[in-house]
Amino acid sequence: MDKILVHGGRRLSGSIKISGSKNSSLPILAATLLTREPCVVHGVPDLSDTNYMLQILAHLGAQVERASGTVTVTAEKVHCVAPYDIVRKMRASVCVLGPLLGRCKEAAVALPGGCVIGDRPIDLHLKGFEALGAAVRVEGGDIKVFAPKLRAAQIDMQGIFGPTVLGTDNVMMAAVLAAGVTVIEGAACEPEVVDLANFLNKMGAKIEGAGTTRIVIEGVHELHGAEHRVIPDRIEAGTFLVAGAIAGDGVTVKRVEPEHVRAVTDLLARCGYAVDVAGDSISILANGSASALEIVTEPYPGFPTDMQAQMCALLSTNRGTSSVTENIFPQRYMHVAELKRMGANVRLEGATAVIDGVGSLLGAPVMASDLRASAALVLAGLKADGVTEVSRVYHIDRGYEHLDEKLSELGAHIERVKSE
Ligand code: EPU
Repeated sequence: MDKILVHGGRRLSGSIKISGSKNSSLPILAATLLTREPCVVHGVPDLSDTNYMLQILAHLGAQVERASGTVTVTAEKVHCVAPYDIVRKMRASVCVLGPLLGRCKEAAVALPGGCVIGDRPIDLHLKGFEALGAAVRVEGGDIKVFAPKLRAAQIDMQGIFGPTVLGTDNVMMAAVLAAGVTVIEGAACEPEVVDLANFLNKMGAKIEGAGTTRIVIEGVHELHGAEHRVIPDRIEAGTFLVAGAIAGDGVTVKRVEPEHVRAVTDLLARCGYAVDVAGDSISILANGSASALEIVTEPYPGFPTDMQAQMCALLSTNRGTSSVTENIFPQRYMHVAELKRMGANVRLEGATAVIDGVGSLLGAPVMASDLRASAALVLAGLKADGVTEVSRVYHIDRGYEHLDEKLSELGAHIERVKSE
């Protein structure tokens, strides 16, 4: 297993380009199963998660071609069984259920296993499929959905922790081919849901209201091929802005959609950093002493759970007492114990991390646990004295395209040690 060594203390400056969004690419690639015609998707980042999705599509019978960031998928014929061996590596594989149900009227996909960021049920996805007329059962570890005929329905996707992103995607993908008008209430408003709806509309779907809590889908008979560029990755952009805040002398992220990152830039500005937006670029500069913050994670447009760990790293290095409350995945604090190994002063009170900033950290061997927690440890290493050795970096490779190379471009002293 590769390791990343971060030699702390270097100041970062300059600019990097943000890649296409992982969380847009995954459902959009799954949606290509809805037509027999070729679909061309640009800006797909080269990550292990997108590669898993392409393997799943190939397993389901699609022809997949990849030329750098452009992926062409032709699903002329598909079969509808995705076994455990192929889907277990990635929870997001569950988003092939909706398109398979829409296209084949049945699907059997292995139920995703446990997840380090907490229990991740899919009851709302299944409730949505049932409302569309599908019979749903779990058998031998597989979810089996079957609907001789899909019918439009009124569906509420709101759960106790807010709306579900992939659940909204899944139900939308099944409903585009259901007869009649489906209304999803309590829909997730994330930009990735809007991106998927835009792609589906290019394929001939009739979806209105994506980006609001009420999505209206008029079922169509069939979909056709389409070409699409995925939106920039707002979490990658946020992560590099936090890198700029932790250790930067002027860092610019290019090729971003500033509105999608606003919850992060607003907080960084409130914390005392100078944040400057110009077109599709955002720059960040330390501006005197940064202060403590109170953060609460919320569904979009609130502060994203996928930026919580990175902000914990930043606030550990600032002065003052901050609090971070995780409302989406209340157990998503695997990074806290590792940050403490680096000298951070953090205590957990239920779903709230209380952070007494210590100014700077000390390099240590630490263990990556999930994607965002791992990125947080690398960021912490930038501000630590000595060397931070982050092991299990395959977590980072799941969701950040060339994180170490991009940080090197900005001047970080960071090296990847390949496993034997
Ligand atoms: N939930 C339910 N029932 C369901 C589905 C979700 O109770 O059927 C709960 C979850 O347990 C959680 C909340 O609803 O408390 C929100 O979960 P959601 O379903 O929105 O998460 P997801 O769609 O599985 C996506 C992203 C995650 C991101 C979350 C929240 C993808 C591939 N994944 O997951 O991204 O944290 O939305 O914004 O889009 C990441 O990129 O590191 C990552 C984990």
